[in-house]
Amino acid sequence: MMMMVRLSGAFFLVAIGAVNGFPTGSSYDFGYEHNAYGAHPLTVFKSAEELEVPKLDMVQSSRACESSLYTLFTPRGGATNEAQATIVDSNGDLIWTSGWHGQQIYNLMVQEYRGEKYLTFWGGNDAVGGHGAGTIFMLDKSYNVFKEVRAAYGLDADLHDFRITEAGTALITVYEIVQHDLKEAGKNHIGPVWDCLIQEVDLETGLALFQWSALEHWRLADSYRDIGSEGEGDRAYDFFHMNSIDKDARGNYLTSSRYMHSLTYINGKTGEVIWILGGKRNMFRDLSDGAATNFAYQHDARWSSNDTITLFDNGVDDGHPNIAPTRGLKVKVNEKTMTAEVVTEYFNPHKIHGLSQGSFQTLPNGNVVLGYGNSAAFTEYASSGEVLCDTHFGPESKFGTGGVQSYRVYKYEWHGYPTTTPSTAIRRNSSRNWNFYVSWNGATEVSKWVLQGSDNITSTDEHWKELSRTKRTSFETSFGLHASYPKYLRAVAVHSEGHMLGVSTPINILSVDQLTSTESFSFTNNDISMTRIAMGMGGLLVVGILLRMGISTWNKRSPVYWQLPTKPN
Ligand SMILES: *[C@@H]1O[C@H](CO)[C@@H](O)[C@H](O)[C@H]1NC(C)=O
Ligand SMILES: *[C@@H]1O[C@H](CO)[C@@H](O)[C@H](O)[C@H]1NC(C)=O
Ligand SMILES: *[C@@H]1O[C@H](CO)[C@@H](O)[C@H](O)[C@H]1NC(C)=O
Repeated sequence: MMMMVRLSGAFFLVAIGAVNGFPTGSSYDFGYEHNAYGAHPLTVFKSAEELEVPKLDMVQSSRACESSLYTLFTPRGGATNEAQATIVDSNGDLIWTSGWHGQQIYNLMVQEYRGEKYLTFWGGNDAVGGHGAGTIFMLDKSYNVFKEVRAAYGLDADLHDFRITEAGTALITVYEIVQHDLKEAGKNHIGPVWDCLIQEVDLETGLALFQWSALEHWRLADSYRDIGSEGEGDRAYDFFHMNSIDKDARGNYLTSSRYMHSLTYINGKTGEVIWILGGKRNMFRDLSDGAATNFAYQHDARWSSNDTITLFDNGVDDGHPNIAPTRGLKVKVNEKTMTAEVVTEYFNPHKIHGLSQGSFQTLPNGNVVLGYGNSAAFTEYASSGEVLCDTHFGPESKFGTGGVQSYRVYKYEWHGYPTTTPSTAIRRNSSRNWNFYVSWNGATEVSKWVLQGSDNITSTDEHWKELSRTKRTSFETSFGLHASYPKYLRAVAVHSEGHMLGVSTPINILSVDQLTSTESFSFTNNDISMTRIAMGMGGLLVVGILLRMGISTWNKRSPVYWQLPTKPN
């Protein structure tokens, strides 16, 4: 079935079909994808104009996508103002967004530590040669910093990976410059090299429980990266480029090296290399004609079961943009026969070339989410490889330029209870009707919004009268202002069980009029003549009269009192 739908002035062709009983849809906003809204299209909220929120183009969608989880990503890049940690729901609607003191932000996740869920991410400087020097932040459910995690031995935490283990330790990627003989890389001197370290750190004490150095186990000659001008002065040779660490139930580590095109499986006690998959030192016989071991510049390698590994195979990088298609890869490894075999490959429907970064996540329901790193896209697949949902958070015509990018994209459950107050604004909308807008960045549990009024700003809660209530259906909720209102308005966030979660700072209606001095506020929105008179005479005087009329009208009605429960039920 095909139908035309009209959304905010533009026409989209929407195809609705049925695959496996689930309706699927696709809508490609040609203008969006070709920069009609610029290189970084934004969604602007009237109650929170300061937020930098990417407008999404949900190119393909399906009910088979996991809708109970939120999507976490970290838009940054040349077309953005500032990197943002961002959470959206399955409709693409904003849940939470925040910059981080102007720093870069990478690797936003929800992780568990001692039975509590935390938002974790890396913040710092990413301009130190393809990796980062910074700190890992753990935010609690109120978005307050619970812990700042640094690498052990006084080193900077790198941006590539931070995994909290069930034992309450953290796996951190660390880069350290060491002086090394560069003969194997083709230079006849000793020069600086970026060694890559796995550190397992006790989150309580900050002490390293384990450390593994790539340079102790790998030779420069094994790298696919030309030394070029590196290895001179302060330009260290990035020969290995570690970008993920996973620890399994056997206590061993699996790490991914971008420039070795390989995964190293490491004994968790001795640090010895158990085996290597892919690259020049590959130890596995490939049962898939090379497809199980020919990955290149890959990211995010994890065990998905005892004998199956998943990874994001970029296939290409900035210097080698056309080698192989980018894919998600699921590989089965047999450690007895030392064979490797492709289980499933996941290809992007728009053939994105992942020039850098990228992620592979297996969801609890078996679906797979790929983040395309340098290109502003994430795609959800059925386990079989079928594309279910495909979302762009920047125009496709700019993919590969890094204008808008996100190191990884993951989906998690999250419950946020911000300690801020809800944000509000009174504004006219595009059809020139006055509305009261409310939103609350990060609040996941708001079920309803209640608009309340009072003539006394210092009234206690029970003296604020309910004027209207509405279900929260998206980040910003609006109340049409049609009738007469008391002097102060505020919004109350209500939980699905009926208790109050938060209250906005009251807005004085007169101050709204002063802010928007070109347009007089009319209490009777629909009464055009009234508005005209108000606009014609222009002054506060008229508004004052209207206000008094409004208050008296409102007082004469018998208002509905809304009792605020004092405790959660
Ligand atoms: C995977 O390995 C762990 C640790 O050796 C073991 O406890 C578990 O039973 C294994 N699971 C399967 C499905 O083989
Ligand atoms: C406003 O409310 C406060 C608190 O209930 C009360 O003390 C005060 O008298 C009220 N002011 C007016 C003008 O009613
Ligand atoms: C403007 O606000 C009024 C009152 O809430 C509403 O009825 C109308 O649909 C809105 N117009 C647009 C274009 O959103």
